[in-house]
Amino acid sequence: MNLLQATNKNILKASEIIKSGGLVAFPTETVYGLGADGLNPIAVAKIFDIKKRPAFNPLILHISNKNKLHDFTHYSDERIDSLIEKFWPGPLTLVLRKKEIVPEIVTAGNDTVAVRMPNHNVALELINQSGTPIAAPSANRFGHLSPTEAEHVKKSLGSKVDLILDGGKCKVGVESTILLYKDEKFFLLRPGGLSREEIEKAIGKIEFVSTSADKPLAPGQLPYHYSPEIPLHFLSEETIKSNSTKRIGVLFFTRTTIEGNFYSQKILSPSGDMKEAAANLFRYLHEFENEKVDIILVEPIKEEGLGMAIMDRLKRAAKKY
Ligand code: TXA
Ligand code: MG
Repeated sequence: MNLLQATNKNILKASEIIKSGGLVAFPTETVYGLGADGLNPIAVAKIFDIKKRPAFNPLILHISNKNKLHDFTHYSDERIDSLIEKFWPGPLTLVLRKKEIVPEIVTAGNDTVAVRMPNHNVALELINQSGTPIAAPSANRFGHLSPTEAEHVKKSLGSKVDLILDGGKCKVGVESTILLYKDEKFFLLRPGGLSREEIEKAIGKIEFVSTSADKPLAPGQLPYHYSPEIPLHFLSEETIKSNSTKRIGVLFFTRTTIEGNFYSQKILSPSGDMKEAAANLFRYLHEFENEKVDIILVEPIKEEGLGMAIMDRLKRAAKKY
């Protein structure tokens, strides 16, 4: 059994695994991460192997102390300091010019490195005890749904991980927002748990990098990166009609807006709270997989605040089918 409650004792055990070059899946406020010692290239290589992740896809370094950012990156811009002051620990990843010490395998040969400080006690304690930054992608096989519960990690990666620390459900539920700093400008590479509006309130206008399949700036931008194993489409009279003989799972936003003969239906947030909707998103998609529906139909939502991250994941998932 490699799934353990995230008690102090088990976090200590997990940190020993990290220190000796093994892999630990651990909770963060966004999604579960698959962690290795970020300064040990051989340990990091195991992540790519187990996830079946293309090696051109760089990883995020997770730190437990804001000051550590200086150990791994070069920057001098007060706006970066104010982002960190305001939003760390939290769902914001900064991509900055890397220092020599960061292994090539972490950055996939880029001269930049992605760093974030997660807002989760288990993650922070694990990083702290390990005494090293932890390189971690989401703890799922490449191209599959991100895990927001320990059970999801077990389903996707099973016994390939040395240890899965169970810290309950992830509160944010979508991955961190990724911001690239280049030529004194900020570029939004991936919408995520921190909204663009909040970032712009703190540092002014930022640029949005639109998705390009040929030349992804962040491989999270590959068009079908966040897909469930079951076909997913947006909900409409037409998609209902053309799938009427199938077992349909429907995901509504705040209430049932179309009646139909559905096999399963779920509501992301009855009160219309985007935070709750984001937190439920991957969980409900995992549930549809477990219920073995044939097709998932999702009601589109407004691309504002966290709605942008939610729709980003859904559009990518829909593109695959
Ligand atoms: O919330 C999160 O960010 C979660 C938790 C575990 O922290 N992690 C996560 O990692 O989503 P991953 O590997 O699934 O997504 C990281 C994204 C990828 O799209 C990767 O391409 C991008 O970050 N990235 C990493 N380093 C980069 C770099 N130097 N330049 C551009 N993009 C980078
Ligand atoms: Mg991922």
